[in-house]
Amino acid sequence: MSVPPEIRQRAEALIASERTLFAERHPLSKQMAARAGEHFPGGVPLHWMLDWETPFPLFVREAKGSIVTDVDGLSYSDFCLGDTGAMFGHSPAPVARAIAEQASTGLTAMLPSELTAHVGELLAAHFGFPFWQVTATASDANRAVVRWARALTGRRKVLVFDGCYHGQLEDAFVKLDDGETKMKSSLLGQIVDIAETSIAAPFNDLEAAEAILAHEDVALVLTEPALTNTAMVLPKDGFIEKLIAAARRHGTLVCIDETHTISTGPGGFTRAHSLDPDFFVLGKPVAGGLSAAVFGFTAKVEADMAHVLETKSPGYSGIGTTLSGNMLALAAMRACLEEVMTPENYAHMISLAEKLASGLRTEVTRHSLPWTVTQIGARAELVFSSRPLESGAEAAAAIDHAVERAIHLFLLNRNVLVTPFHNMTLVAPTTTEADVKRLVSRFGEALSALCGENGTTR
Ligand SMILES: Cc1ncc(COP(=O)(O)O)c(C=O)c1O
Repeated sequence: MSVPPEIRQRAEALIASERTLFAERHPLSKQMAARAGEHFPGGVPLHWMLDWETPFPLFVREAKGSIVTDVDGLSYSDFCLGDTGAMFGHSPAPVARAIAEQASTGLTAMLPSELTAHVGELLAAHFGFPFWQVTATASDANRAVVRWARALTGRRKVLVFDGCYHGQLEDAFVKLDDGETKMKSSLLGQIVDIAETSIAAPFNDLEAAEAILAHEDVALVLTEPALTNTAMVLPKDGFIEKLIAAARRHGTLVCIDETHTISTGPGGFTRAHSLDPDFFVLGKPVAGGLSAAVFGFTAKVEADMAHVLETKSPGYSGIGTTLSGNMLALAAMRACLEEVMTPENYAHMISLAEKLASGLRTEVTRHSLPWTVTQIGARAELVFSSRPLESGAEAAAAIDHAVERAIHLFLLNRNVLVTPFHNMTLVAPTTTEADVKRLVSRFGEALSALCGENGTTR
């Protein structure tokens, strides 16, 4: 166990006092929550926005660069960055300009525009795949890839890893329970048992994956290159490369979902490690925070898709939505790919994330806590484990909601935002050394409070 019991007890008490402090500091957010609550349950347009530990939601007045300002006039150094949607900063100037320009010349026409060819060239140059499709969200992109993989291979099954998350995609809502794949009980409204067609394997266990692939009934392996939606698990050296090779031996397609690991560097983990999957998914920050996602694929996949489209029965394919690939999304994507996702911006983000990870480690050591900090490019995460995690099961065991939430709320009350899930922090091109210093020193104070030391500040 990597969370000592006395720390957990103090976390519960800390949450209670920090909730009171939050309520004192946010009278206008409280009023807005009450008014919005008349028409939006809980006062929020999406129920996840209640996942923060605050007693009522924090209402935003402005988000610009790395600073969020709330309606009560308080400003925050933002390391949550919309849980990656704003990974390149809020409203990056080139994206804001492109949106403003496009806004008066057409938003959506269900036709390609003058920008289409250029965006395709940019996507190919950034990520190395020759062919692309655009969707509205990463969830949609993953769903489209699963459907295509089934259509192309004629197989029904999908292999994912225990501890994964790929958005709303139902096929990924399975976990390992005593070695058996089970549908996650948290999945609402799902009447067909996903475990009939999805198989969960332990991450980093090549033998287990290969044993499943050997049945030659798996259409697609869908994975992030590192598990980022649980306590962060990095792949063992060569794991993803060998997984792709094994899938290929057994006629299974592979999709790497880079929606979070795009933090690795230009081109994501795939480019950094010269991976050659069949599909590549990127959502969230690809249009600088506007709703858009893409999936890329190889020339072989494109040729097979063309054959399927030519020979399929007449009628809707069921892949695609009306607003996908609209002109506004493409304009934002053009600006983001060309002017924001630059090697220079990545260099700044990664070097500052290294400083952040090292600062967090220093605080953990100073408080003699048995925890680690894992980093993947611009993303750094505190993990409640004394050694790097290797699987989803280890990650699940390393999660402690009370301690996480106490830290998040403590930081929020001291003008620092981190993601409400796990202890994930992201560095943007607009993040400054001062922002990092603020987070590290406030984090140190949070640990002091959890360790029962005096002298924490408001
Ligand atoms: C790896 C991964 N893929 C896909 C998604 C889905 O993204 P969205 O919620 O924007 O559809 C997420 C969301 O967190 C994610 O982490």
